[in-house]
Amino acid sequence: MTNNKPTRRVAIVGTGLIGASWAALFLAKGLDVVATDPAPNAEARLKEFVASAWPALARLGLSPGASQLNLKFTTDLAEALANVDIVQENGPERIDFKQKLYEQLDELLAPEVIIASSSSGLTMSEIQKGAKTHPERCVIGHPFNPPHLIPLTEIVGGAKTSEATIQRVEEFYTSIGQKTVRVKKELPGHVANRLQSAVAREVYYLVAEGVVSAADVDTALCWGPGLRWGIMGNMMLNHLGGGPGGIEHFFQQFAGPMTAWWKTLGAPALTADVQKMLIDSVHAEVGSRSIEELETERDELLISLVELRNKRAQIAASHKAAAE
Ligand SMILES: NC(=O)c1ccc[n+]([C@@H]2O[C@H](COP(=O)([O-])OP(=O)(O)OC[C@H]3O[C@@H](n4cnc5c(N)ncnc54)[C@H](O)[C@@H]3O)[C@@H](O)[C@H]2O)c1
Repeated sequence: MTNNKPTRRVAIVGTGLIGASWAALFLAKGLDVVATDPAPNAEARLKEFVASAWPALARLGLSPGASQLNLKFTTDLAEALANVDIVQENGPERIDFKQKLYEQLDELLAPEVIIASSSSGLTMSEIQKGAKTHPERCVIGHPFNPPHLIPLTEIVGGAKTSEATIQRVEEFYTSIGQKTVRVKKELPGHVANRLQSAVAREVYYLVAEGVVSAADVDTALCWGPGLRWGIMGNMMLNHLGGGPGGIEHFFQQFAGPMTAWWKTLGAPALTADVQKMLIDSVHAEVGSRSIEELETERDELLISLVELRNKRAQIAASHKAAAE
């Protein structure tokens, strides 16, 4: 399957939390979006979301031609899929639902149209069993919530996904500014959610064991490793953690102590009592602040960090171009 046609028109199937956010991002990148969702008021909710996300997207930089007016909505699946170049599917996270939907998508779409699923927990090998004729064009394109602000997409193929599909979808996401990660083996939670889950397990353990409060464990995370993780990942930071000797020296120094700590890491049982303790500790940390206030604070800092990182990337690219 080859296709060199530029991607201009995207279908969003399912406009809940993730679909609406993808739609806003695609519009900001100057693409035409046609969305479909059978839920009552779906169109109004989608347009409201896109309007509310637009100021942040404008701050991060709109592509030429970007407009909220390039969004069309229909409850008719066939109409939504007509003449699209790619589908981003964000329906409910149930395998029976997705397989049935993929059967319909596969029948309605031309064979070269990629179907990317946002699924967080299902494997493409299972989902694509629904696509009877062209399973090779089905792939996971898993975003991080909210996709219009967090520029990460994990790409995972299933047993029947073609290499051409993986390459084309990677090019598409990269072309709209996403950082892509190619996950080479199907695993529950892909990669980024597994990383979060590993940290969450220890966080819950430390709070449940009374080692720290929720407030203190969050301080330890976001003012320590979290600050660095927003800039460089574990592997690169380990390289710097070894000083002038780099990663080789890091392992000489820390391989022993680190593997000894691993043996003491927790595996808490999230019983009703443990959950109650964690919930009480979180409420003590939150105090009187509303969810809206906390969301505003998170988004403001997040946008500032993404802006800063984009600016640094542009400077690095112009230095590289000047050196060539
Ligand atoms: N919530 C997250 O943090 C998150 C993050 C990354 C990926 N995902 C994945 O994104 C997908 C959607 O998750 P969500 O959180 O947006 O769920 P959601 O419940 O908010 O949205 C699902 C939408 O699908 C719609 N829908 C139902 N039947 C449909 C049909 N036949 N055709 C089109 N749309 C239909 C529903 O009306 C609903 O609006 C899931 O696969 C999930 O794993 C979720």
